[in-house]
Amino acid sequence: MIRRYVFGNPLETEAVLEKPKAERTETLSHLSWDGEALSLHMDGEDIVYGLGENVRGINKRGWIYVSDCADNAHHHEDAHALYGAHNFLLVDGKEPFGLFVDTPAKVTFDVGYTKYDELRISVEDNAFELYVIDVPERGCAERECMECDGAGTGYIERESAGQDISALEQIVREFRGMIGRSYLPPKWAFGVGQSRWSYPTAQDVREVARQYREHHLPLDMIYLDIDYMERYKDFTVDREAFPDFEDLVAELKEQGVRLIPIIDAGVKVEDGYDVYEEGIEHGYFCKDADGKEFVVGVWPGRCHLPDMLDDGARRWFGLKYKTLLDLGIEGFWNDMNEPALFYSEKRLGQFFDKVMEYRSKNLDVKEFFEFQDLTYSVQNNPEDYRSFYHNYHGQRVRHDKVHNLYGYYMTRSAGEAFEELSPEKRLLLFSRASYIGMHRYGGVWTGDNKAWWSHLLMNLKMMPSLNMCGFLYAGADIGGFCADCTRDLLLRWLALGIFLPLLRNHSALGTRRQEPYAFGDTEDFRGILALRYRLLPYLYSEFMKAALTDGMYARPLGFVWTADPIARRVEDELLIGESILIAPVYEQNAAGRIVYLPEEMKLVRFRGAQIAEETVLSAGHHYVEIPLDEVVLFVRKGHILPLAQGGSECVADVDWDELELVHFAGRGARYELYDDDGESRAVELEDRIQWVCL
Ligand code: GLC
Repeated sequence: MIRRYVFGNPLETEAVLEKPKAERTETLSHLSWDGEALSLHMDGEDIVYGLGENVRGINKRGWIYVSDCADNAHHHEDAHALYGAHNFLLVDGKEPFGLFVDTPAKVTFDVGYTKYDELRISVEDNAFELYVIDVPERGCAERECMECDGAGTGYIERESAGQDISALEQIVREFRGMIGRSYLPPKWAFGVGQSRWSYPTAQDVREVARQYREHHLPLDMIYLDIDYMERYKDFTVDREAFPDFEDLVAELKEQGVRLIPIIDAGVKVEDGYDVYEEGIEHGYFCKDADGKEFVVGVWPGRCHLPDMLDDGARRWFGLKYKTLLDLGIEGFWNDMNEPALFYSEKRLGQFFDKVMEYRSKNLDVKEFFEFQDLTYSVQNNPEDYRSFYHNYHGQRVRHDKVHNLYGYYMTRSAGEAFEELSPEKRLLLFSRASYIGMHRYGGVWTGDNKAWWSHLLMNLKMMPSLNMCGFLYAGADIGGFCADCTRDLLLRWLALGIFLPLLRNHSALGTRRQEPYAFGDTEDFRGILALRYRLLPYLYSEFMKAALTDGMYARPLGFVWTADPIARRVEDELLIGESILIAPVYEQNAAGRIVYLPEEMKLVRFRGAQIAEETVLSAGHHYVEIPLDEVVLFVRKGHILPLAQGGSECVADVDWDELELVHFAGRGARYELYDDDGESRAVELEDRIQWVCL
C-alpha cells in the first residue's frame, strides 16, 4: 500500500513510473510535518535501513546524511554525502514502513543524530513528494509445494502462489514496483574486470590480458580510463596510443575479454571537435545567468556540460556513444557526473587574485588557514553549482535545484540511446553519480574509495541499501582506488567481491599496481577468481530473479530473521540470494572471525575453488578460521547452492549444464535456477526458471 503526499511545488524527477493519487497532507501516517521537517519518534530497538550509497552502517541510526551527489574521493566515516542521492528509508519498528522523499533538491536525514529517538527529514525549499509505503495487504502466502520426481534437474512448471518473504522485503518490493525494473546487464558483465587509471596504450592493455591469460586468471573485462581518448575528449580515441583500436577490441573479444571505456560528463571546448561544435550549434550545453555556455574545468581543461536534463540534448549526447559502439565496444562507465567541477573560470580568477594578495603578507595562523581553504574551495564550489542553468521540461532551472539528477540523466541519456542502437542486446552501463530512477538504465560503482580495510567493510554495508533503491548491479573499486593496496587486502576484498554483481579491481594513478599478478605468486588469486566463475550460475540466477521480481540480491540478516534481536544488529554479514550467507574477514592479520548464525547452517570452505570442508554448525556465535587462501560461506537449511565446474577463464566458458549441487537439505529440496542467453533484452522470469531438485 503506497500513499503519496505533495508538499509545495516540487520539480518532477521521473523516479516514479506510476504515481498513486495524491492524498491530503493532513492525513499523513507514521510521520508528522511541522512546516519545516518531517519527524518520527523512534524506539530504542527500531532500525532504520536505506539511503543507498552512503557512509556508516546497514542500520543508519546515529548520523546525519545529506542527499547531495558529491565528488568526494577522500571520504571518511564523517562524510554526510557520497556520489549518489538515494532518498529511500525503511523503518523497522512496531509497524514497519518505507518512505521515499522524491525531490531533486538537497535532503537532510537526521537519523537520530541530534536526538537518538527522533528521525527528522528536511528538504531545501520544502518542496517534495513523499511516498509512504506500508506492508501490502495481500499478506504472504506460502510457496506452493512442487512435485519433483527424483534427483537431477528439469524444466517443470513454476507455480509460486506467493512469497514467503518478510514484511520488510515486501515493502521494498512495493517501492521497487513503483520505480520500475532494475537495469539488466549482459551475463559477461558478471565476470572479472580489471581496471586502472590508466592503461594508456594498446600495448599496456594487451599486457594486462596477456598476464591474466598466462597466469590462468579468469577475466572478462579490461576498463579503459581517460587516457584512451584524444586529449580527454569524449567519443574520441587517441590514435597514437591506440592505432589499431578496433582490431584490439576484436582481438581481445576473441580471448573472451571486452574493453569498457569511460565517458566523462564534461565536453572539451575546442574548435573543430565535433561534439563541442554540435553542442554549441544546437544550444545543448548548460548556460550561465547571461545565457552563455558555462565553462568548467575538468580533465581536458575548459569544458561545457551537456544539459542532460534537456530532452534534445540528452538524446543527442546518448547517440554519440554510437561512435564507440561502431568500433565494437559493448559497455561503458559514466564518470564525473555529479557533475564534478575542478574549477569555474570565475573561481579560478578569484583564487589567483587572492594568491597574489597573500603573497605580500606575513601569514599568521588565521590567514594561513584561510589560504589553505582557498585552494580546496576552488573545486566543486557550491556557488558554482548556483551559477548555471538547465532547460528542464521547458523551464529554466538553476543547477543546484536539480543537482542530484545530473548523473541520473547522463546515464539515462546513454541507456535510452542503447535501447535504440542495440534493441536486441543488453549493453554494460554503470555510473558514478545517481538518483533513484537511474537504476532502470544502469548500475553504479561506489566512486573513489581507498585501499583501507574500513572501506572493504563499507562496501559490504552499502550493498543492501543500494539494492533497496533498485541498484542491483553495483560494486566498489576492489582493492581500493586511492592509496596503496596490499596483497592481503586484495585477497580479503575479493573474498567479498566475488559475491557481488560488479566485480572490478580499480586503482588510481600513482598508487601501487594492484593487478593480482603484481603481488608475485598468483595461485591464491587464481583460486578465488576461479571460485567466482563456479558461483556464476547461482549468482546470475539470484541477480536476475531479484531484478525480475523487484527483490533484493544482498539482504541484511534482519530481513529474514526479523524477530532475532542479534540477527537484526549484524553489520558485517550478508545473505546473498536465497541460499547463502557470507561473513568475510575485514581486518588485517586476522586469522578468522566471529560469525553469527541465526539458525543451523552448513559451513562450506573453499580452498582455491575446491570444496575443502562441509560442516554443519549450530545456531549462535562461532569463531571460524579463514586463512587468506580460503573462502567460507554458509548454506541455509533447506537450500541448494548450484556450482559450475571449475576451469573457466571467461563467462562464455562456464558450463551451466554440468552443475554440482552443494546443499544443506534432504531429498526433495529444490532450487529455482534462472538462466537465459545472457544478452537478450527481452526476458521473462517464468520461461527461464529451471527447478534443480535433490
Ligand atoms: C574519477 C573516477 C575514477 C577514475 C578517475 C580518472 O576519479 O572516479 O574511477 O579512475 O576519475 O578518470
